[in-house]
Amino acid sequence: MSDHFEPEKLIVRAVEPADELGVRELVTAAFDQSTEAGLVHKLRHCGALVLELVAVTDRGRILGHVAFSRVTPTNIGAGQELKISCLAPVSVWPEFQRQGIGSRVIRAGLDQLKDLGEDLVLVLGPPAYFPRFGFDPALARKVRAPYAGDAFQAVALTDAVEADLPIEVAFATPFQEFE
Ligand SMILES: CC(C)(COP(=O)(O)OP(=O)(O)OC[C@H]1O[C@@H](n2cnc3c(N)ncnc32)[C@H](O)[C@@H]1OP(=O)(O)O)[C@@H](O)C(=O)NCCC(=O)NCCS
Repeated sequence: MSDHFEPEKLIVRAVEPADELGVRELVTAAFDQSTEAGLVHKLRHCGALVLELVAVTDRGRILGHVAFSRVTPTNIGAGQELKISCLAPVSVWPEFQRQGIGSRVIRAGLDQLKDLGEDLVLVLGPPAYFPRFGFDPALARKVRAPYAGDAFQAVALTDAVEADLPIEVAFATPFQEFE
């Protein structure tokens, strides 16, 4: 597979049913195992996905993918109304990494979630990568979840968030195997 593409011809769009196999192959290659591709499949089919985007070349090849799934506030009181989602996983074909594709799908995803009225986005990922998109481990420390540590990061998309934290949340059922 050629590792050249024309960035200006890359389109970021919502996943379509015909993308299912291409997404599975991409996610499996990015993680060098099928666990995360299985997670995407389960999230999609249990109705937990809030947004799923792909980055596609002008020739229709899927080079990048990101999924965002519903996270549910579980505490009574402040924060119950917050719309929270989780970014996981994000994948780029190994031979196309470090060329801005991951950033394209993540930024497009966060922009669309903001337009959809989402308040808060969580991620479990490299602390050297996600802060460039506004993710912050300090904000995530105010979110009680099965995850902790500096890999657990959060970004607020609305001003409503800070006043409603701390909060306790539950992830979609398919995440239980990652706890
Ligand atoms: C993480 C991933 C999606 C990033 O996509 P990408 O298209 O390679 O990233 P971009 O080109 O937008 O950004 C490149 C930058 O990210 C950094 N980066 C990429 N992967 C990183 C990682 N795992 N840890 C830390 N930094 C990382 C690069 O060093 C580079 O930094 P620089 O801008 O300072 O040079 C991609 O590397 C991938 O698919 N990795 C395997 C799957 C994975 O680990 N997903 C994240 C957890 S859900």
